[in-house]
Amino acid sequence: MRVLVTGGAGFIGANFVHWTRRHKPDVEITVLDALTYASDGSSLDGADVELVKGDVADAALVDRLVGASDLVVHFAAETHNDNSLADPSPFLQANVVGTFVLLEAVRKHGVPLHHVSTDEVYGDLELDDPARFTEDSPYDPSSPYSATKAASDLLVRAWVRSFGITATLSNCSNNYGPYQHVEKFIPRQITNVLDGSAPKLYGDGLNVRDWIHVDDHNSAVWTIVEKGRSGETYLIGADGEETNKTVVQAILRALGQGENAYEHVTDRAGHDRRYAIDSSKLRTELGWTPAYVDFASGLRATIDWYRENEAWWRPQKAATEQKYAATQTVLDPAATD
Ligand code: NAD
Ligand code: DAU
Repeated sequence: MRVLVTGGAGFIGANFVHWTRRHKPDVEITVLDALTYASDGSSLDGADVELVKGDVADAALVDRLVGASDLVVHFAAETHNDNSLADPSPFLQANVVGTFVLLEAVRKHGVPLHHVSTDEVYGDLELDDPARFTEDSPYDPSSPYSATKAASDLLVRAWVRSFGITATLSNCSNNYGPYQHVEKFIPRQITNVLDGSAPKLYGDGLNVRDWIHVDDHNSAVWTIVEKGRSGETYLIGADGEETNKTVVQAILRALGQGENAYEHVTDRAGHDRRYAIDSSKLRTELGWTPAYVDFASGLRATIDWYRENEAWWRPQKAATEQKYAATQTVLDPAATD
């Protein structure tokens, strides 16, 4: 079997490639990736893949690669909410036009597709709401990023219904693990502390994210590819709700700092308050369970990975912090804690 992995040089895609190598050594892998700022070819070192540098919106290239594949797993996207607020345009191109181009190619060649998406398409929940997102939650995206992911999901569903393509969809909660860009919350705070800087909490720091280890996301994707029904959406989550403040305090303790040595900074515009996933359908219908049930130990392993792999993240760090410094200022603790 030859799998085409779009976005396979990014965080989740690279971990997907390594997971596949460990668990399915006979699968041949082609990675199509534009190698944007968010990717790093070295994340694929040792993975024995064909790496094609190119745009998922390049119809001729995508047609050729899809035509030579037995399965497409689609990770490629612009993914950072803060960037989508600064400039939505690349998000429209990669996430909406890119998915459209891929859909036309799988339609032409009759190749099955798995579309990787996010829980952010459902908007957010109140902190005291007992509800969690399910496959029946209404779409209500808040940011340009999540709106483009919602659009891409709807395109996939329409291509299944109108053109009969074979496709499954998944919407996952916040991933953590190795190879995540330092612009994202957990790597940013770990590398700040390693650099002697304070972690930065947006607003009051009480927003909740539902954390899942990236290997659990990827084992779920393979479960859906192998056992899922075409046209169906499966929510992926591992019951990992934490406030941002709790996560920062755990990072500070793990790195030998006082747990309150963080700063509050300017909040994100339209900042979603809480995400929470009910993954009963995936667990009950397809028999999937997460391997990383203890967020604290998964987080410690992730901290160790960043401590041991400075050469991987160091080249991105200064430019990332410069970009943040241009828009974020430190808030008065009396107004936030
Ligand atoms: P990432 O930003 O780390 O990686 C995205 C990859 O896509 C990069 O390698 C980038 O070079 C590539 N890419 C971007 N535009 C491209 C284009 N036009 N053509 C080809 N390649 C392009 O993102 P990630 O966190 O690994 O997310 C991967 C997928 O998973 C995305 O679709 C995202 O929406 C989804 N997702 C992410 C999370 C999360 O917590 N990170 C959770 C749920 C779903
Ligand atoms: O829920 C899935 C989504 O998770 C994915 O679809 C996105 O691609 C991925 O980036 C992630 O989105 P978030 O916006 O939740 O992730 P981010 O890492 O940007 O932020 C996580 C939380 O931490 C959020 O509440 C904002 C906050 N935050 C973030 C940064 C970078 C801070 O408090 N300080 C920070 O410095």
